[in-house]
Amino acid sequence: MKLYLDTADRDRITEAARLGVVDGVTTNPSIVTAAGLGYREAVTAIADVVDGPVFAQVLADDVEGIVREARGYQEWADDVVAKIPATRPGFEALARLRDEDVPAGTTVVFSIEQAVLAAKNDASFVAPYVGRLDDAGEDGVDTVRRIQHIYDTYGFETEVLAASVRNTTQAVSLYEAGVDAVTLSPDVLDDHVPHPKTDEGVAGFEAAWGDRGSPIDE
Ligand code: E4P
Repeated sequence: MKLYLDTADRDRITEAARLGVVDGVTTNPSIVTAAGLGYREAVTAIADVVDGPVFAQVLADDVEGIVREARGYQEWADDVVAKIPATRPGFEALARLRDEDVPAGTTVVFSIEQAVLAAKNDASFVAPYVGRLDDAGEDGVDTVRRIQHIYDTYGFETEVLAASVRNTTQAVSLYEAGVDAVTLSPDVLDDHVPHPKTDEGVAGFEAAWGDRGSPIDE
């Protein structure tokens, strides 16, 4: 299972990477804009601090424009994967990019039908938007579970990359569903760490040990 970070904030990426669990970074135009960066600037900065793919979304909405951007992103860093929205031009561009071996996948995915088109096109990933599906009155985690089941049944190699994950409850349900990959905001990743009983347990051990100092110095 892959864990990606969903941000363009280089400091948060560096901090999160120290946990040793970050397999790559996903971005989108909102995230890059919020970071106050240009897209190339964001991708090259992220590629400098992360070991793994950097996912960069295309902005064009026509086939030629999408293909041009996805090809061009390859020049920015070693491991850039183009994110292409699940539109008709997006799927047509994906087919073209597959034939050229340009790494690209399908994002802003809201239906199983879109996920099937992505897999049939050998998309490198498909990104269903869990939180936004919930906002729309659907069950985001269940949609991901069904996509994963279909992919596993047919042996599709497209990575199911659950996106728009808002909290650890959703994240844990996705892990239980056996999803290939999850992208998390730094805050949701940070929320994986603490537990009050852990703090209580550690405090108890420290109290028992008292002022005896570090065992390594005995
Ligand atoms: C995925 O790659 C997207 O960047 C992201 O997860 C979208 O999440 P949002 O619904 O919080 O904008």
